[in-house]
Amino acid sequence: MRIVITIGGSIIIKEYDHQKFAAYSEILASLKKDHEIFVVVGGGQPARDYIKIARALGCGEAHCDDIGIDVTRLNAKLLIMALGQEAYPIVPENFHQALEYSTTNKIVVMGGTEPAHSTDAVGAILAEFVKADLLVNLTSVDGLYNKDPNKYKDAKMHEEITATEMMDFLADKEVKAGTYEFFDMTAIQMIKRSGIKTIITNGFQPDNLLKALNEKIGTTIIPK
Ligand code: UTP
Repeated sequence: MRIVITIGGSIIIKEYDHQKFAAYSEILASLKKDHEIFVVVGGGQPARDYIKIARALGCGEAHCDDIGIDVTRLNAKLLIMALGQEAYPIVPENFHQALEYSTTNKIVVMGGTEPAHSTDAVGAILAEFVKADLLVNLTSVDGLYNKDPNKYKDAKMHEEITATEMMDFLADKEVKAGTYEFFDMTAIQMIKRSGIKTIITNGFQPDNLLKALNEKIGTTIIPK
């Protein structure tokens, strides 16, 4: 399969250390034996910290996004270093480059592309661009809940949801640099139009990536 995997910055750089980069590099290298792998890495808290400084300096939202993009690319570089020979050594800045680098049969790792969305959207656009069979979104919760599971004990996770239902759910959420909510609107629109099966699952346990390919886990977005 051709698989696009997005790893939230809130997962991979949460502890400001190498552990998750190392753990994911092992799993990704093992998946590469049977699949063609593209990875999109998020910015996490460092991106938000940098955006906060830019905003305090009076930068507009698009400039703040641009700062965030640089941080996602820095995280992508760290994952490339962890992957060593398994990865293409350069972070693509756009989808053409991603496709071009993939012809080397290496894992392609990228961060953001342009302002006004998050790396969730980059993953969804990339999945459409490279005609992926599957998009896996590794995030900081187990899947999509009907309400915030950190605030409400009775929150329930959707095992399946259609892209249209998810759009309704996300409609009133905030769209601002550093705070694209749980899954941004551009991402879900892309999933709907491209028909790519998408699984959202908790990335704190890197093994969940393997589970997402082999069993039922997290929330599956049905592209309709
Ligand atoms: P993330 O994708 O990490 O956003 O990009 P996020 O949703 O805030 O954070 P996590 O990692 O999922 O917790 C960080 C920031 O970089 C900018 C946005 O401002 C985003 O909030 N960005 C990223 C873009 O503007 N365009 C991109 O293609 C990617």
